[in-house]
Amino acid sequence: MQAVIYRRYGGPEVLELSERPRPVPADDEVLIRVHAAEVTKGDCELRAFRFPVTWFWLPLRLVIGVFRPRRPVLGGYLTGEVVETGEKVDRFSVGDEVYGSCGLRLGAHAEYAVLPQSATLARKPRNMSYAETAGVPLGGLNALHFMRKAEIQAGDAVLVNGAGGSIGAHVVQIARSMGARVTAVDNPRKEQMLRELGVERFIDYTRESFSARPERYDVVFSVVAGASYGECLGVLRPGGRYVLANPRLRDMLRASLTRAPEGKQAIFAFAGETVDELNDLREMIEAGKIVPIVDRVLPLPRIAEAHRLVEAEDRAGAIVVVPGQQ
Ligand SMILES: NC(=O)c1ccc[n+]([C@@H]2O[C@H](COP(=O)([O-])OP(=O)(O)OC[C@H]3O[C@@H](n4cnc5c(N)ncnc54)[C@H](OP(=O)(O)O)[C@@H]3O)[C@@H](O)[C@H]2O)c1
Repeated sequence: MQAVIYRRYGGPEVLELSERPRPVPADDEVLIRVHAAEVTKGDCELRAFRFPVTWFWLPLRLVIGVFRPRRPVLGGYLTGEVVETGEKVDRFSVGDEVYGSCGLRLGAHAEYAVLPQSATLARKPRNMSYAETAGVPLGGLNALHFMRKAEIQAGDAVLVNGAGGSIGAHVVQIARSMGARVTAVDNPRKEQMLRELGVERFIDYTRESFSARPERYDVVFSVVAGASYGECLGVLRPGGRYVLANPRLRDMLRASLTRAPEGKQAIFAFAGETVDELNDLREMIEAGKIVPIVDRVLPLPRIAEAHRLVEAEDRAGAIVVVPGQQ
């Protein structure tokens, strides 16, 4: 099968298209023919082994490979069709159309991927194509998790810092579906997309700081690693929640060890990525509450170009790769 591998950490040039044996599912595993997979910031960060927050460098390096990558095929999220099942599999059947997360197993940037039936996989939404669906699991799973942690109430004012990325664009949609009024902060390249997703106000971070404005919020969500902890807390109303999706070590310590004034809370909690959340996302998609946000679909052999687009943020929406095409 066609697969993209990397044998050393580095720039997009370390990615190679290669022929590899098609994986064989064990008793409790399913073989999925990958129809589409997102290329995420996480793929680029693992490929280069460079992260905007550094505290997990050592534990992650031990898992991913100290001297070279232990798992040569990247890709954390996929959508496709179950083509073979192990003898003990009872959750899936051949022909099921699924979407979900590969977790730390990775392996989505190939024609086939093998996953345990206990993986975060669920039936794909009926009203999205495979390419559109590929843009959902990373952003959708994280956004749903964070918005539930934030306990959004109808009418809440929500500020989304870094709203134009894969996670932020889903946060905008999910917060709106919960009845929030959303202000987005991002690069002006993302403004049109974010307005189409229904944000009430857009703040261009390259020209002004959201903290210099008079507006106050019930919830601040930030995926920007370098965001100022004090500024994010400072724009909250009393009792407001600050949700950190990309927290630095010092921010986690501050959130754990100090009490914010006026009943404000700082929350960081990594997404568990559950099957129930995938099922909830599918229902939201089928009800029209989450729409596709795919910028470009590229054939798998153009994976290096896909990584460059994601790394440079030269996109408004997801960059998706499709195996089996030249
Ligand atoms: N906590 C978790 O469980 C979790 C899970 C998955 C991923 N992550 C992490 O989250 C990050 C990826 O998230 P993503 O794909 O949604 O985002 P992303 O692709 O990194 O995009 C973030 C957006 O923020 C904008 N931005 C950059 N600096 C900004 C600033 N100072 N103020 C406001 N906006 C700014 C970027 O615009 P520009 O074009 O100007 O750069 C971009 O549009 C990765 O670092 C990943 O490791 C965390």
